[in-house]
Amino acid sequence: MKVAVVGATGMVGQVMLQVLAERNFPITELIPVASERSVGKTVSYKGKEYTISSMEDAIAARPEIAIFSAGGDTSLKFAPKFAEVGTTVVDNSSAWRMDPDKKLIVPEINASELTAQDKIIANPNCSTIQMVLSLAPLHKKYKVKRLVISTYQSITGTGVKAVQQLENEYNDEKGEMAYNYPIHRNAIPACDVFTENGYTKEEMKLVNETQKILGDRSIAVTATAVRIPVVGGHSEAINVQFENEFDLADVRKLLQAQDGVTVQDNPDTNTYPMPIYAHGKDDVFVGRIRRDFSQENTLNMWVVADNLRKGAATNAVQIAEYLSAQGLL
Ligand code: A2P
Repeated sequence: MKVAVVGATGMVGQVMLQVLAERNFPITELIPVASERSVGKTVSYKGKEYTISSMEDAIAARPEIAIFSAGGDTSLKFAPKFAEVGTTVVDNSSAWRMDPDKKLIVPEINASELTAQDKIIANPNCSTIQMVLSLAPLHKKYKVKRLVISTYQSITGTGVKAVQQLENEYNDEKGEMAYNYPIHRNAIPACDVFTENGYTKEEMKLVNETQKILGDRSIAVTATAVRIPVVGGHSEAINVQFENEFDLADVRKLLQAQDGVTVQDNPDTNTYPMPIYAHGKDDVFVGRIRRDFSQENTLNMWVVADNLRKGAATNAVQIAEYLSAQGLL
């Protein structure tokens, strides 16, 4: 299969190449794409160097699939051009996620919605993916009524510039700032830009994308998203109120049985998920599972995942694998 990776030099793009290689995605021709600045440079894939193509050359090559992680504007402009020549686009930006005509997919939850007519498919936001995957089996059985989420998000979600900023601050060196404030030894309660209602875009993604993926607009969601100086992954404290009474042992069983979820939860041995251990892994890790004794039908849990993997690259590659396996390309 001819596969284009758009944004191949970026933080997510690099992990995409790695995940495609690890999972042995059936690639006959790899077409890495980046901005005009990078055309002619190379990226490596399975130990070989590949020259970066321009967007025009990549479209002209009519790949079966193009996986995008090059920002919303690039997706808005170029995804339709790939779609026009028959390429299926899996897009990691926020550009198409809330478009009513586009599917928003976490394969373990709703890949079965996909058809051969879907030419632009949206990959959800990183913090949404890990949360909905842990909620999906519980929602099915007990129906989620309301979610209160606090996130502790890795700087890798902001891109290369943010990783450089932390590095500079750590080494006491000056350099370009990705954030409005220092991130070393800090916690910044503003991920992405503010919207008119006082919430940030990242917080509103958790609201809107969760309702769309779980297929239930009545779920109440409120979030505070915080950037912390961590590299390995995003963490989330999730307080979930269900419509129905739940059994705590059954909640654990449902989570253990969920594809893509690993339960790490034992207070006796200080076992709980943490970003240093989630780093480089594809699963979503769930722990600190306990009843919220202050309110009925309510549960607390702590959910951690590598935001560049399941939160971005792995989820996108899994969508591509599903399309390929079902003959939808
Ligand atoms: P480049 O390296 O040439 O700038 P990150 O979010 O980690 O900074 O990565 C963004 C990715 O998107 C990079 O691969 C970047 O390429 C790519 N990119 C940015 N703008 C465009 C564009 N207009 N067309 C194609 N790729 C782009």
